[in-house]
Amino acid sequence: MEGNIKLTYQDKSYEFPLVKGSQDEYGIDIKQLRAKTGLITLDPGYKNTGSCQSDITFLDGEKGILRYRGYDIEDLAQNASFIEVAYLLIFGEMPSAQILKDLESKIHDDSYVDEDLKSILKSFPKSAHPMGVLASLTSGLIAFNPSSVDVNSEDEMFEAIVLLLAKFPILCAWTHRKVKGLPLNYANTSLNYIENVAHMMFKKPHQEYTPNPIVINALNKLLILHADHEQNCSTSTVRIVGSSHAGLFASISAGISALWGPLHGGANQAVIEMLEAIKIDGGDTAKYMEKAKDKNDPFRLMGFGHRVYKNFDPRARIIKKAADEVLNDLGIKDPVLDIAKNLEEQALSDPYFIERKLYPNVDFYSGIIYRAMGIPTEMFTVMFALGRLPGWIAQWREMRLLNEPIGRPRQIYTGATSRKIDK
Ligand code: SDX
Repeated sequence: MEGNIKLTYQDKSYEFPLVKGSQDEYGIDIKQLRAKTGLITLDPGYKNTGSCQSDITFLDGEKGILRYRGYDIEDLAQNASFIEVAYLLIFGEMPSAQILKDLESKIHDDSYVDEDLKSILKSFPKSAHPMGVLASLTSGLIAFNPSSVDVNSEDEMFEAIVLLLAKFPILCAWTHRKVKGLPLNYANTSLNYIENVAHMMFKKPHQEYTPNPIVINALNKLLILHADHEQNCSTSTVRIVGSSHAGLFASISAGISALWGPLHGGANQAVIEMLEAIKIDGGDTAKYMEKAKDKNDPFRLMGFGHRVYKNFDPRARIIKKAADEVLNDLGIKDPVLDIAKNLEEQALSDPYFIERKLYPNVDFYSGIIYRAMGIPTEMFTVMFALGRLPGWIAQWREMRLLNEPIGRPRQIYTGATSRKIDK
């Protein structure tokens, strides 16, 4: 502990310990607040509330720093594979070549799902949003893998984690195949993790599939950049559902539903829809900047702003550069990229955005790359979920290994006081 803070209430003085993190962040440990003072705290949206201590991901919102287990995101995006980063996030260290080989072999062995899951998929209308389909299929996976539910030992957790790392990409690929009206296919054990994602998503039934290195590189980078982000909305959902011991798959299914929201992971879809609307409306970005600033207009500049980053989201910088490279390498000219850059340029010199420290976030440019790969807009958040899977798993595992108590916040009641039914 790092000293105490004093609280005075009704002429009594109370002391609460300070907690210091490895990056010199401080928090007030209020575990005894209600027992000592009868008071609770009130913090809608948890803007000032830490839910846990964690060793997994560090963000510095003021400096625009993001690190997974101490490694800078720039370093990982440039020099690591997604499956290496997944192992790092979940188990804390970069895997040796042998560990990586064993993990990929286990994943290959488990890269199939019960054929009955296809009938769950087939029961959805083609118009179903892929995030709703994915959340249902992930929940459905429990029925075919009951051993993954009641896991308590590290070995049992490891087995459930490998099952999910192996099967989740199939479910994501199948939601894509459903949208595109393509037959469902499986991984090819001669390909690596990312190549298999592309293979399962893009292979045409009448052609051999050769992974395009530009697409594979971009996918690898995008999934790494989305892999974890400390206690965001969907990760907090995974942790609180997991704290009831509902099991890993059920916790991840809940996280998928939280990520779906346009204020969270659904923003990548909302960004492209916004950019398309601006393009159709003649590309008048100034008009939409004014709408974003108008309190009477519900329009927000999607892909802008962040609860933690009050500086550039480091992921947005990397994705913006990758968008230029991928479109150039694929020989694609996408006018919405120019519209996005124009909006960014205006926002960075606009007092409304500067005062509120609103910068492009991870969702602002990512959809432009997914679009260039031929991924439909409504699939963008599924790609976010595929990237975020290892982070969700890591956070769930940390919470379970720490044996954290079931999450159950308090409230301040403001409703009717005691009253009787008039008979
Ligand atoms: C993700 O938490 C994470 O780490 C999430 C994530 C991850 O990796 O898990 O990073 C992924 O979810 C990124 C965020 C994607 N969402 C969007 O791009 C949607 C658009 N952004 C906003 O809805 C908003 O910025 C949030 C939701 C991201 C953050 O909201 P906050 O922290 O609750 O901030 P706020 O709504 O209180 O806004 C503060 C001020 C307000 O103005 P005032 O009332 O002070 O005058 O900024 C304004 C807001 O109106 N504002 C915006 C704006 N975002 C905030 N105004 C116009 N356009 C915007 N995008």
